Amino acid sequence: MTSQSNEQSGPIRTERHGDVLVIISDSPPVNALGAAVRDGIAASVQQAVADSSIAAIVVRCEGRTFFAGADISEFGKPLQGVPLPTLVDMIEASPTPVVAAIHGTALGGGCEVALGCHYRVAVPSATLGTPEVKLGLLPGAGGTQRLPRVVGIKNALDMIVLGNPIPAKAAADAGLIDRIVGEESLEADAIAFAREVAGKRPIPRVRDRDVAPDPEAVEAFRKTHGRKLRGFDAPEACIACVAAAGEKPFEDGIAFEREQFMTLMNGTQSAAQRHIFFAERQAAKIDGVDPATPLRAVNRVGVIGAGTMGGGIAMNFLSAGVPVTIVEMQQEALDRGTGIMRRNYEASAAKGRLPAGAPDKAMALLTPTLSLDDLADCDLIIEAVYEDMGVKKDIFTRLDAIAKPGAILASNTSYLNIDEIAAVTKRPGDVLGMHFFSPANVMKLLEVVRGAQTAPDVLATVMALAKKIRKVAVVAGVCDGFIGNRMLMPRQVEANKLLMEGATPEQIDRVHVAFGMPMGPFQMADLAGVDIGWHRDPARIENIRDALAAEGRWGQKKGAGFYDYDEKRNPTPSPRVAEIIDAFRAKEGTTPRPIGDEEIVARTLYTMVNEGALILEEGMAQRASDIDVVWVYGYGWPVYRGGPMFWAQSEGVDKVVAGLERYGFPVAKGLKTGEAFK
Ligand code: 3HC
Repeated sequence: MTSQSNEQSGPIRTERHGDVLVIISDSPPVNALGAAVRDGIAASVQQAVADSSIAAIVVRCEGRTFFAGADISEFGKPLQGVPLPTLVDMIEASPTPVVAAIHGTALGGGCEVALGCHYRVAVPSATLGTPEVKLGLLPGAGGTQRLPRVVGIKNALDMIVLGNPIPAKAAADAGLIDRIVGEESLEADAIAFAREVAGKRPIPRVRDRDVAPDPEAVEAFRKTHGRKLRGFDAPEACIACVAAAGEKPFEDGIAFEREQFMTLMNGTQSAAQRHIFFAERQAAKIDGVDPATPLRAVNRVGVIGAGTMGGGIAMNFLSAGVPVTIVEMQQEALDRGTGIMRRNYEASAAKGRLPAGAPDKAMALLTPTLSLDDLADCDLIIEAVYEDMGVKKDIFTRLDAIAKPGAILASNTSYLNIDEIAAVTKRPGDVLGMHFFSPANVMKLLEVVRGAQTAPDVLATVMALAKKIRKVAVVAGVCDGFIGNRMLMPRQVEANKLLMEGATPEQIDRVHVAFGMPMGPFQMADLAGVDIGWHRDPARIENIRDALAAEGRWGQKKGAGFYDYDEKRNPTPSPRVAEIIDAFRAKEGTTPRPIGDEEIVARTLYTMVNEGALILEEGMAQRASDIDVVWVYGYGWPVYRGGPMFWAQSEGVDKVVAGLERYGFPVAKGLKTGEAFK
């Protein structure tokens, strides 16, 4: 059948294939459903409906994906063009059958457009989903009412409330896809399918279907996921809408969805989550480095140290299919490290998070060795030994002699000076920091530390590589603790002072958990180990932490730290810790006073914002949103509060400044001028 090119209206064009009209969106990068796309589709559908020679319509996209959702950058701005829900209704109402031809990621509004179509075909590699909840929203173009009518309440809860996309095959099993078509022949197969269904009547419209209410599934879902969703507004609204799909007539359900959607859209949580969406992508952009900079090839990675950190780092690359050479000093440590890596992979496979063959496949890419010389063929070498400048300098001196020209040399230090490390080599331009967070194979954040002499292509290569290993990377400058750990310091100092002044560990932790952090400073100390950084002299007691460490209260691993723990590691406030704190206050001559939660917020959270502003002032972070990304992805800052710098603005910068001044902190200039939020 010959095709004939017809209309072109902005990003939308149509092609005639006999009696089938194909509507094609070409709006890179992801065919987001912005105003021009919506208007173009609406106009094309109207024309097709008016043309009696057209028997069926196919909607497909050019480029890497079917519509990946509404255009998020339009949110919060005055609406232009045909609203998305109207477009979906218009497609559904078409008296000419419409087939969605899906490849890539049909997400959010894209999935809703597909649900408005009468039929859906997809290539095997496509995924479909409604991730709006991750932006603090719900599928607001009829998705909460249509999806349950197709896949049932239980499946819809998983898709809408958790927001995880599903592959085409699973979508077909659930009834969301009518036919899986050829990976390389989407358009032709969709046209053929359209011809098959062109004459079928009645045209199937999702709105005409019913779905039985399933209160048990709703209850079970809440029970399983309630804890994880703590603090977020959107999941509960999603649950209510999905439940409504079973309980209300379609139009009433849609009205309910609209009301819930608008409430979420106008709330702070969604603004925060949308901020993080763009902040994450912005973080990948490097100031002063041309995005077209040619990258260095990284085909093999070397990791020095097979401990917890080194092993975790290596796993990131192995999982991405990049061969790794891992070096240890002793055979026993090497065997232990690689054994743990294998067990971690196997545990993931046992939980169904990896396919059965994945552990063997990943481990086959690993070359364990006791010789640094074996790193000679590596394109990137990451040092992950313990934090000692002397040891690191020694390693980098040796690496300088071993590594091939052009190899990138990275240190996983969490606070040491990268420039000092680079200076021992004859190639400081090839040196930078890659600060992974523990557990390194799980945590999403990577701080990429740019030394004074780090070459632009080295930085660009590592930032691109970060994406390949599914990390969210942020560029940091050389300063003590870089971005994240540096901001942790004032929080820690103030938390300890507050203990002395009258607060309890549980009060401070409760304030942080209520704020949305996964745990408070003392719970974190117990998890990490109270003995970390301890001088190991039980007679030398200079602070409360020393006193705890001296008594063997090293945290969770010992069943006792700032809290007492039962065998399941459940914490309870410790009378012994209360005595230790009292004794220390008495020794220091401090009389405890009642401390309000507001003071804890000001002294442990506002001070972090203040430090963030100083980091920006010194040019140690490229932009405020990078700091937010660090805290959301590295430390569990609640994404619905958008990271410390975003939060300070929603809290009110004047309030933050006043709070800092009330407790006598010197306020960073940028906080007062607003410069810190750019
Ligand atoms: N709106 C606007 N811009 C978007 C966008 C969207 N929905 N999705 C992606 N982009 C932009 C990104 O900001 C990025 O821009 P940049 O190049 O200027 O930084 C560019 O497209 C490429 O995105 P990624 O770097 O994320 O590309 P990937 O290939 O890694 O991932 C993707 C592609 C899986 C589609 C991912 O971008 C994604 O998950 N996008 C968001 C999907 C989503 O949340 N959809 C729901 C939107 S809300 C909605 O539909 C409401 C409706 O129910 C009413």
